[in-house]
Amino acid sequence: MPAESSGAFAPGRVNLIGEHTDYNDGLALPFAIAEGITVRARANGAQQMRVQAADLGESDEFALADPPPAQGWRAFVHGAVAELARASFPLVGADVSIGGDLPRGSGLSSSAALEVALCLALIALGAEQPLAAREPALDRTELARLCSRVENDWVGAHTGLLDQLACLYGSPDTALCIDFRSLSVQEVPLVLGDWRLVVLDSGERHAHASSGYNQRRAECARACELLGVSSLRDADAQAAARLPEPLRRRAAHVIGENARVRAAVAALRSGDLAALGGLLDASHASLRDDYEVSTAAVERTVGRLRDAGAVGARIVGGGFGGIVLGLFAPGGHPPVGAREVRPSAGAHLIDS
Ligand code: GLA
Repeated sequence: MPAESSGAFAPGRVNLIGEHTDYNDGLALPFAIAEGITVRARANGAQQMRVQAADLGESDEFALADPPPAQGWRAFVHGAVAELARASFPLVGADVSIGGDLPRGSGLSSSAALEVALCLALIALGAEQPLAAREPALDRTELARLCSRVENDWVGAHTGLLDQLACLYGSPDTALCIDFRSLSVQEVPLVLGDWRLVVLDSGERHAHASSGYNQRRAECARACELLGVSSLRDADAQAAARLPEPLRRRAAHVIGENARVRAAVAALRSGDLAALGGLLDASHASLRDDYEVSTAAVERTVGRLRDAGAVGARIVGGGFGGIVLGLFAPGGHPPVGAREVRPSAGAHLIDS
């Protein structure tokens, strides 16, 4: 008997370091945060999906079989239903409500949180046995791939797997060293003690489908073609230094960023948070100058964090706006408006 109702929570994420490396078979070091998206679903006995986006005061309704393409937040719901059906998850018509405390388009990965929460709640609702009993069978990496197809094929943003894996594998006091070549996820203790990680909003909103994000991906693909490699993970630094501009700078960022992730893992393992601060600054400089995904508003935000005494600060996520991450030593005073972020639990089912 499928359940009558289900609920799922999926967190946002902050990427500590390793930006624009996921779609280049590289390395990243994200963690899940406490804020996220909650989806509740109740079987409605019909072959219809009826959906309420509580924070937007908007709704949607469509037939369970063969959801049509849609725009905005509706594209995520239609895509989740369609991709789950394609992957042979049993689904039932449902009344679905979406809520949460994760600001959209801010670089905290509201998109992945929405995809993951929707998928978990809908899988749990349609499952013949309670999902808890089937959890071992639920391959989180496969689910991350499915969610990323929702974003790629239904929303039109060619994002990598960073956000979905961070959301699904997050754990308290833990960062995740993800190798996007093997898709291995290694837990690295992120014990902050009296240090604080904060995010400060640049006030500029981004949408991956329309920002320069897809263009950056295309530039990396072109750099690979010219270098004769299948991904920038295999790029030789000397050969990459001879690429035409701006591809030379794009490749330099990716090669340097992978090295910074390795250095950050070593810094965390030895409890050297000051060293982590230097790596955050170096990552930001590379994203600003070589990858060119910063904006004037983001630079002002980085400046505010540095003026307040941050030992490191950098733009987070796809870029072109969104949030900036800052690291403060014990006793530091983050600027007004900064929000503390803590490594927290990954996506999970909740009581419905
Ligand atoms: C966005 C995408 C991720 C990743 C980052 C940049 O958050 O969704 O897949 O590419 O940008 O590191």
